[in-house]
Amino acid sequence: MIVVEKRSDLAAAREAMTGRVAVVMTMGALHEGHAALLRAAARSADSVLATVFVNPLQFGPGEDLARYPRTLAADLALCGREGVDVMFTPTPDVVYPDGDPVVRVSAGRLGEVFEGASRPGHLDGVLTVVLKLMQLTRPDVALFGQKDAQQLAAIRCMVRDLDLPVDVVAVPTVRESDGLALSSRNRYLSSVGRVSARALSRALATRDVETGRAVLAAESGLSTDYFERVDSASFAIDPAGDLLVVAATVSMTRLIDNLLLTPEGRDLP
Ligand code: PAJ
Repeated sequence: MIVVEKRSDLAAAREAMTGRVAVVMTMGALHEGHAALLRAAARSADSVLATVFVNPLQFGPGEDLARYPRTLAADLALCGREGVDVMFTPTPDVVYPDGDPVVRVSAGRLGEVFEGASRPGHLDGVLTVVLKLMQLTRPDVALFGQKDAQQLAAIRCMVRDLDLPVDVVAVPTVRESDGLALSSRNRYLSSVGRVSARALSRALATRDVETGRAVLAAESGLSTDYFERVDSASFAIDPAGDLLVVAATVSMTRLIDNLLLTPEGRDLP
């Protein structure tokens, strides 16, 4: 595995990659969910490029940018084990050499509802870095987790609306045995919070908005942000939509999860 930090080294490593190239973008603190993306990448392409970059642009003021877990040595080991060919681990000044970008990608309406309503500017920051990382890595295919369903919808929308020459592949959510979706932020949870956090997947498993909301309301350690049925592409609220989405805060930690109400949506235990 080649590990590069600078743009010129990335360009040289990318040039040497042959065949179909898959990219998996991450913010590090890698876990089995990221590993599933890397494995799906290896299946869908000839070589795999992984990026690890904690993108300041997608964190709001007062969010966890400073304390976001950084575990580069373990991330290198995981990528090595999963057969990654090239790993790009830039610092913010490499990605944003002129400071905060003047021109950014707007997620439009998708950036204003649900995650966008709770975290203004978040999805614009995600799309801006995803587009930049796509320009720098030029993938044939890019893989993203179903775990972040609204991010996935926004990326699909950007690829379509801006005619980006890349295939987007979604990977099912990887969960703990009790249903909790793996997330780099789960390590913020106390042991009590970890128990409360199970309510998200239990609520989704009811496959019903009213029943699911009642499951969440019955959990004392948790405050619900939203639990809705939506269309998975537009995130419009729709009683016949194909996706249940949930966000809740457990002590100080905000957790999100979702369930596809389609035959593929069998990723709950
Ligand atoms: P991060 O949270 O590190 O996630 C990187 C990728 O892993 C995303 O596509 C995410 O959906 C996927 N992922 C996370 N947890 C998962 C799980 N339990 N099962 C399956 N996939 C999972 O998402 C980001 O970083 C950033 O916003 C990024 C796209 C890298 C842009 O900065």
